[in-house]
Amino acid sequence: MGLLRNIRIWTQNRLLSRGFLLEKINRTQVIPKVIEAPELYRRPDDYSRLLKPWHDPFYDGIFTPEVVSNTMLSRMKLYYLHRFITQIRDLPGDVFEAGTGSGGSSRLLLNEVKKQSLRREMWLLDTFEGYQKVDAVRDGAHVQVNQCRCASFEDVQRLLQEPNVPVRLIKGLIPATLAEVKATSFAFAHIDVNLHEPTLAAFEFCLKRLVLGGVIVFDDYGWPATYGARCAIDEVATKYGQNIIYLGEQAFLIKR
Ligand SMILES: C[S@@+](CC[C@H](N)C(=O)[O-])C[C@H]1O[C@@H](n2cnc3c(N)ncnc32)[C@H](O)[C@@H]1O
Repeated sequence: MGLLRNIRIWTQNRLLSRGFLLEKINRTQVIPKVIEAPELYRRPDDYSRLLKPWHDPFYDGIFTPEVVSNTMLSRMKLYYLHRFITQIRDLPGDVFEAGTGSGGSSRLLLNEVKKQSLRREMWLLDTFEGYQKVDAVRDGAHVQVNQCRCASFEDVQRLLQEPNVPVRLIKGLIPATLAEVKATSFAFAHIDVNLHEPTLAAFEFCLKRLVLGGVIVFDDYGWPATYGARCAIDEVATKYGQNIIYLGEQAFLIKR
């Protein structure tokens, strides 16, 4: 193992010094057979060394073990989530998340909400049983019921216990469960349900209650496997004249 590793590092360094990069590609990425506009989906085209602030040791204190061991989000995605939740610090309104999964992204948001002076409730929605309804036409044939199962409702409830912030964990299928969300305004929303129908419904629901300057972060904008979610985001944004800003994997909106 040691010898192979040394050969790899030596080869990498030799190639780098000549302007080439040897990189392991992500073989676990699901690439559907059929996606519209495949020319828009490409490998990274800039291999330069660029600033990646999410590796700063400061973020080790934000990306705590209870966050990173309960999330599918990379450090980069957690970084953007953190920057946006701090951005809305002075805006009134609750926090919403569609697609709580095992609770890691919610835990990061909760840790920041409890530092903020404005009182907010957190509305967190998931089936807590993975996909329970899929649309083969809009989301693609690669998507199956019961995929994307995360931790149980009870485990997530334990992870998100916080005496000073009201956490409303709502189990069941979006759109139906949106009726249980009693918030009148939101300052921030995170939408991470991967699929067309719940993305569309959650986005429209949040946008109607989002205060001006409030932010929505969409986790699923860039991956070919979550193409249905991207279509839903574009549909709602166009309908309401809102601007989607793409970050490379996630996208976000600041309500105007
Ligand atoms: C990518 S995971 C969420 C990841 C999570 N935010 C994290 O930090 O790792 C997507 C979640 O969406 C949920 N989901 C998909 N369709 C849903 C629907 N119609 N209603 C509620 N939850 C849904 C799945 O159960 C799954 O937990």
